[in-house]
Amino acid sequence: MKKIVITGGAGFIGSHVVRRFVNRYPDVQIYNLDALTYAGNLENIKDIQDMPNYTFLKADITDADVINELFDKYKFDGVLHLAAESHVDRSIKDPLAFVKTNVIGTMNLLNAFKALWKDNFEGKRFYHISTDEVYGSLGAEGLFTEETSYDPNSPYSASKAASDHFVRAYGETYGMPYVLTNCSNNYGPYHFPEKLIPLFINNIINNKPLPVYGDGKYTRDWLFVEDHAVAIDLVFHEGKNHETYNIGGFNEWQNIDLVKLLCTIMDKKLGRDEGTSEKLITYVTDRPGHDLRYAIDATKINKELGWKPSVTFEQGLERTIDWFLNNQEWLDSVTSGDYQKYYDNQYSVSK
Ligand code: NAD
Ligand code: TYD
Repeated sequence: MKKIVITGGAGFIGSHVVRRFVNRYPDVQIYNLDALTYAGNLENIKDIQDMPNYTFLKADITDADVINELFDKYKFDGVLHLAAESHVDRSIKDPLAFVKTNVIGTMNLLNAFKALWKDNFEGKRFYHISTDEVYGSLGAEGLFTEETSYDPNSPYSASKAASDHFVRAYGETYGMPYVLTNCSNNYGPYHFPEKLIPLFINNIINNKPLPVYGDGKYTRDWLFVEDHAVAIDLVFHEGKNHETYNIGGFNEWQNIDLVKLLCTIMDKKLGRDEGTSEKLITYVTDRPGHDLRYAIDATKINKELGWKPSVTFEQGLERTIDWFLNNQEWLDSVTSGDYQKYYDNQYSVSK
């Protein structure tokens, strides 16, 4: 493959994927296509911006004409599609924005890719990066496998599920070569502080309340973002066409236990008395349609491609917290401007 376009490469996971591909594949031209929404930030990939095999394309995937033009101009051999609206709480407030980017945007990419290569798909690949949230919610037992039926509950997960269906439909109907992965919750450097871990790190630094939804007994399966980037690299290069792979951390945590662990580590790092940050925990109104539990069975990718997480949760969390503490400027810049408006709207008592 000579030219690869990575969409959403200025976002959290995308930036780690772009960095990995640019550094590992100097003979491949990597194009980072991103609209730079509130979640996209070129600072996230500043270290590779001058590499000769890297090009940034500012474009919106909801604009079919622009996407067609870019595919026509650059003739991308491979697509890694990560651009999305990605936050559940925002999807509850503005579902249509999620349909536009996650469904229509994905359609535009599929159509552009198909138009370009329909006469000969040989050696081409469309890789759609998705989430475990499409499977809905687990009870106390069980794991999501690749065979679990889709049962999305939030506008975010419904929009991702719809996009997954279209990718498979293009594979079946037009013979388009695709791979698809459904991954559990990521955490790590450059995570936008609207999601649980970075939001709470930022609030602990600033002695602000830690808004735990409901009773805090909701469970997520956390994966260090660099391990996700390794899995994406592996699936893109070695995954089988028309296959889905689940990716997960084998690392389930109830929110409240995770928040308490975060408080303990941060008290130590910030030189605060033990128990200081835990006092910031505030139980707030639950998220509507809140999924109780996500947990991934990652046996397939482990057995077939040899992938497993490389860092323990303790190591990953330590690296993440250190990164945030050492990158206060980044945190300040992403929490200025519109962030404050979002925060007040999402967490004001009278919402
Ligand atoms: P993010 O919100 O941090 O970044 C999204 C990126 O997409 C941003 O750079 C943004 O500017 C860009 N973007 C948004 N709308 C766009 C548009 N219309 N046109 C072009 N670019 C646009 O998201 P993330 O957390 O890095 O997630 C990346 C992908 O991985 C998403 O598809 C998400 O569904 C999936 N995923 C995320 C997680 C997670 O825990 N964060 C887990 C599993 C799967
Ligand atoms: P989040 O990081 O938004 O990821 P997702 O909902 O996509 O899994 O949330 C992780 C968990 O933390 C989820 O159960 C909701 C909960 N949560 C809170 O309790 N308070 C918060 O302020 C946020 C953002 C999330």
